[in-house]
Amino acid sequence: MNLKIISSTDRPNSMSLSVSNYVADLYKKEGINAEVVSLEEFPTADVQGGKYGKSIPSVEKFRQPILDADAIVWVIPEYNGSFPGILKLFIDYLPFPEAFVKTPMAFIGIASGAFGGLRAVEQFQMVANYRNAQLYPERVFVQRVNSAFDPETGLNVPLQQELLESKVTGFIDFVRNLNQPVS
Ligand SMILES: Cc1cc2nc3c(=O)[nH]c(=O)nc-3n(C[C@H](O)[C@H](O)[C@H](O)COP(=O)(O)O)c2cc1C
Repeated sequence: MNLKIISSTDRPNSMSLSVSNYVADLYKKEGINAEVVSLEEFPTADVQGGKYGKSIPSVEKFRQPILDADAIVWVIPEYNGSFPGILKLFIDYLPFPEAFVKTPMAFIGIASGAFGGLRAVEQFQMVANYRNAQLYPERVFVQRVNSAFDPETGLNVPLQQELLESKVTGFIDFVRNLNQPVS
């Protein structure tokens, strides 16, 4: 399985990237070919002026690994009660309608606040639904992420860590079951 984990912000030194790297290691321990894609690298300068639908080599190069993915995990921080603008920009430069059709997706919300990115994830799920992705219903929300998460050991509360790990194996099963022929 070719899995991409998207760190959904362009903020330097973000917790999203730190959580994404940690989660990638959890998937690798399960034998999954997991790779982090950081939206910090999205070539925003090359899309200035609204170049929608045009072929832009730097954008093509950036989005191809995501289009080739068998499954995607989104690590989404809450910005102003929603998901970051760079994430919407990235989506708006993916080919329509084919990108994300039937792609299995899982969601991890993070926030410095008390709601753990719930609003950010739920709003983004509306976009993913619109693009006909297949959404894994077991989401993860990390509240107070700066104190709740350690880049070496994961989530400080044992129950939260157990849930995170069970949702990693759960998403792998979800993706594999989608690919089973119906008898
Ligand atoms: C522009 C911006 C808006 C933010 N808005 C919220 C918010 O609405 N609610 C919240 O809990 N945290 C908010 N935060 C804090 C983030 O949740 C915090 O930075 C956290 O570490 C996750 O984001 P990161 O991946 O940028 O580190 C905001 C941060 C930024 C940069």
